[in-house]
Amino acid sequence: MGRPAVLLTVALAILPTCGTGAPVQRQRKLLLVSFDGFRWNYDQDVDTPHLDTMAREGVKARYMTPAFVTMTSPCHFTLVTGKYVENHGVVHNMFYNTTSKVRLPYHATLGIQRWWDNGSVPIWITAQRQGLKTGSFFYPGGNVTYQGEAVTMSRKEGILHNYKDEKEWRENVDTVMKWFTEEGVALVTLYFGEPDSTGHRYGPESQERKDMVKQVDRTVGYLRDSIRHHQLTDSLDLIVTSDHGMTTVHKKASDLVEFHRFPNFTFQDIEFELLDYGPNGMLIPKEGKLEKVYAVLKDAHPRLHVYKKEDFPQSLHYAAHPRITSLLMYSDLGYVIHGRVSVQFNNGEHGFDNRDMDMKTIFRAVGPSFKAGLEVEPFESVHVYELMCQLLGIVPEPNDGHPATLRPMLRSGSAPRLGRGPPLTMAFLGILMVLVKFTKH
Ligand SMILES: *[C@@H]1O[C@H](CO)[C@@H](O)[C@H](O)[C@H]1NC(C)=O
Ligand SMILES: *[C@@H]1O[C@H](CO)[C@@H](O)[C@H](O)[C@H]1NC(C)=O
Ligand SMILES: *[C@@H]1O[C@H](CO)[C@@H](O)[C@H](O)[C@H]1NC(C)=O
Ligand SMILES: *[C@@H]1O[C@H](CO)[C@@H](O)[C@H](O)[C@H]1NC(C)=O
Ligand SMILES: [Zn+2]
Repeated sequence: MGRPAVLLTVALAILPTCGTGAPVQRQRKLLLVSFDGFRWNYDQDVDTPHLDTMAREGVKARYMTPAFVTMTSPCHFTLVTGKYVENHGVVHNMFYNTTSKVRLPYHATLGIQRWWDNGSVPIWITAQRQGLKTGSFFYPGGNVTYQGEAVTMSRKEGILHNYKDEKEWRENVDTVMKWFTEEGVALVTLYFGEPDSTGHRYGPESQERKDMVKQVDRTVGYLRDSIRHHQLTDSLDLIVTSDHGMTTVHKKASDLVEFHRFPNFTFQDIEFELLDYGPNGMLIPKEGKLEKVYAVLKDAHPRLHVYKKEDFPQSLHYAAHPRITSLLMYSDLGYVIHGRVSVQFNNGEHGFDNRDMDMKTIFRAVGPSFKAGLEVEPFESVHVYELMCQLLGIVPEPNDGHPATLRPMLRSGSAPRLGRGPPLTMAFLGILMVLVKFTKH
């Protein structure tokens, strides 16, 4: 949608309230649930009665396109900031420092404040600054401080956490219900590490993955029952979504992508490397070696796409961040990048181009603000943030999403609509209100 059309939509949405003043509304509550690695079509080969009921009673997107890079932390942070990865800076699941060469795994990175607090303020903090209480249950990025401020209620999993314990999932749901009913929390983000782990281990086409999707579905049923039991049906909007999809790894292919076999490539030319992490890689060549390394790598393998930082496809909205190294790369669907040795345990992987259908993920929503039985066309995950701000009636931070994109999901007059847009929108509205005044005379 072009800008003028959007401005008009915003204006039309606000116009009726101009004369009457802001409608007084009870504070709406919002629960965002993420089931990690839930591919868009995981419900097509498994019975999912609870997800089906939710779609009948609410809104379902055909699929959602995640941000690139299609990894857990970058994509989850896009959901809570509305920014593409190059604009929020959480560019990888791993913390890395190219000077000290320190690289920390996912769980350790969850606790590294300076990795997350890199100039963007996620929705929890924005909501708190506007008077709401918020909570994060295991959600990536929800357990550090931003500009010195922590999420009101926060839980972080232990390092050896068992992500697939269904009994614990229900206890976590119970805790979140208490946050809403006893602690006065308005927004909670709740994270489950499945079906990602099972998809990695057994592959997305395995029976194990299908069984895990059934467990997810039972949990959605339990969650919706809990919402009813706690009398939250009329005040709580529920979004069920995920970070990215999953694809089968070509483990036995004759054309594996292996750096240690590339002719004329040597790690002696490399200052810093982040390889062996699915299909994504980053390199800093030693001083004076950039052109040589690039020349050696650019056609080294037909399934590997190597770019200088400034030439990386802009449509992926990934490389224009100071944390991205001088060379970066990704491989074709199903192919992972092997660095110094070829080791690959996983049968399923993600991180691939977000245009690949296997990387697409789910979006479902139900509650007092949402229309019933509506299936919408696919959209990008950057738009979810603006939707959440509308549902909570808070003013968003600057972001890459658009308030009009997901508004057709909402019942008319359902959510508070007085969130302010970017300065241009406000200026336009100012002019519009003046016009309204004049026409009234
Ligand atoms: C990276 O490491 C260098 C050298 O140890 C240190 O000076 C710098 O502060 C570190 N940067 C970050 C962001 O941790
Ligand atoms: C973001 O992190 C990088 C290091 O990774 C640092 O150099 C930069 O100053 C940080 N920016 C902000 C706004 O925190
Ligand atoms: C992180 O989570 C723990 C509980 O799991 C909590 O005690 C702590 O306050 C949280 N820290 C932040 C900064 O949210
Ligand atoms: C490797 O380097 C040699 C010597 O510079 C050159 O002749 C050869 O074409 C290079 N091979 C590849 C595949 O780049
Ligand atoms: Zn994963």
